[in-house]
This record gives sequence, structure tokens and C-alpha cells, in this order.
Amino acid sequence: MRGHLFDDTAMSDLDTLRTRALQAAQQAYAPYSRLRVGAALRSTAGQVYTGCNVENASYTLGNCAERAAIAAAVQAEGAGFRLAAIAVTAFDSAGDVLPISPCGGCRQALVEFGEDATVSFRQPDAQWLEVTAGALLPHRFSFPER
Ligand code: THU
Repeated sequence: MRGHLFDDTAMSDLDTLRTRALQAAQQAYAPYSRLRVGAALRSTAGQVYTGCNVENASYTLGNCAERAAIAAAVQAEGAGFRLAAIAVTAFDSAGDVLPISPCGGCRQALVEFGEDATVSFRQPDAQWLEVTAGALLPHRFSFPER
């Protein structure tokens, strides 16, 4: 029974992040790709932080939603910030929710703050998938020991 209750808690926790991610996506500045991306994360301290993508006429200067959320979390909690879970979602200019998976750069950024963190995003069949940040990026770069 305890396990059952725990699962319910974890589920509503992710639902909150999914809702907040969709709200964050509405704030996106994405005039070039027209893909509005939102991310909402929970820190191990229990706080929620959100981010959206911010594009630029000089395309390579654009920022992803996940890294914006991480920046907000570090700004608020400092170097002790650790990632517990993050939800990422996106919709297009027609308002249709689209499947999205964190890009390679964002995977590296996520794993930096929580190898075992839950990462939730929509698959092409519209179902939410949950994987750990570590599982999303095998053989990742880590700073070499000297
Ligand atoms: N984007 C994100 O915000 N997160 C990702 O993980 C993948 C891509 C944004 C960047 C750009 O503004 C738009 O989606 C299209 O690539």
C-alpha cells in the first residue's frame, strides 16, 4: 500500500511539471522555428523552475527551454542545485502539441545536475515517456581526472 501511495505522489508530481512546462512554452520566443518549447523541473529541494526557448535572428544564439530552466534553478538555489525531475513539452504555431525529446546538448546539461533524475517528454504516439537523465546520454563527456 505504501508503494501504491508513493506512486500516486510521483504521478501527480509529474503532472504538475507537465502542466507547468506547457505554460512555460506559451512564453517562448520562437519566431524562426515556430516551435514553442517549455520545460519545468523540480529540484531535490522541492522547488519548481521553468524555462522556454528563446531564439535569435542569428540562429545559433538560440537557447533551449531545458537549459533556461536549469539556469533559473541555479540562480535561485546556487551551486547546490540538484535535479529531481523535468518535463519538456512543445507546440507549434497551430497550437498542436508535438512530441519532443531533449536535444543532445540539453541531455549533457541535465545529467550534470542529476544522473538519476526523471526526464519526461512526449513520444510520437503522444504518450509521455519517463527515463533517467543518465539513460538519455550514454558515454557522455565527463571532466577528465588529472
Ligand atoms: N529546443 C528546445 O528548447 N529544447 C530542445 O531540447 C530541443 C530544441 C528549441 C530550440 C529551438 O528554439 C527550437 O526548439 C527548434 O529547434
